[in-house]
Amino acid sequence: MNQPVLRVSDLNKSFTMHLQSGKEISVLNGLEFEVHGGECVVLDGSSGAGKSTILKMVFGNYLATSGHIELHARGFNIDIANADPRTILAARRNVMGYVSQFLRCVPRVSALDVVAEPLIERGTEYVEATSRAAELLSRLGIPERLWSLPPATFSGGEQQRVNIARGFIVDLPLLLLDEPTASLDSKNSRVVIDLIAEKIERGTAILGIFHDPEVREIVADRLIPVEDYVALERVQ
Ligand SMILES: Nc1ncnc2c1ncn2[C@@H]1O[C@H](COP(=O)(O)OP(=O)(O)O)[C@@H](O)[C@H]1O
Ligand SMILES: [Mg+2]
Repeated sequence: MNQPVLRVSDLNKSFTMHLQSGKEISVLNGLEFEVHGGECVVLDGSSGAGKSTILKMVFGNYLATSGHIELHARGFNIDIANADPRTILAARRNVMGYVSQFLRCVPRVSALDVVAEPLIERGTEYVEATSRAAELLSRLGIPERLWSLPPATFSGGEQQRVNIARGFIVDLPLLLLDEPTASLDSKNSRVVIDLIAEKIERGTAILGIFHDPEVREIVADRLIPVEDYVALERVQ
């Protein structure tokens, strides 16, 4: 098989608790897996297992304690676990997108502009970018009267749908999804499942977390049992 877009190997993570005299809490030990273009790999495990921590390390928000997070796509051959901040920012622009659990709201920016922004930042014309944003917002059931309003006042589920539209609007080789359907009804979950299938069709590699077993069953090509890599200190 050809080279994976993402290869995680011998990855360890512990947190230093500065408020508890620097106590170390080990979370993950010896994690390894690969994600190829055109497949959806799902991190499986109970709450607190370390799933979100894995996505945050891949995106470069959390520093790995040791190990490797290799990205291979669009001319990038880098190890996020050992990359400098500029390389991580370049990888976010060109290689990987991340749909976090919550939308970070910027005051006074309309929902339409929030969704269109990742395209505009990468050089798409405003009219084209906002028309793509409008299409995604309507597919996700956000009524047109809300598009010109800032999402800060939206309900949790509406904010999450704006967040999903923003995360899906650009095509990048790797897409990280942290419980994108957690606050959605089944109709909107279905739209997200379709959007995932369309990305996979276009060759995107997806690494995701899905709390809903039915959604997980539909989208997952493979499951990574995160609990198999729980650090020994936590197994008691
Ligand atoms: N910034 C942090 N500082 C200290 N501990 C953390 C931090 N982030 C996560 N953890 C701990 O790491 C473990 C895994 O958390 P998380 O990755 O959020 O789990 P999951 O997403 O599988 O529910 C938990 O015990 C959590 O408390
Ligand atoms: Mg989580």
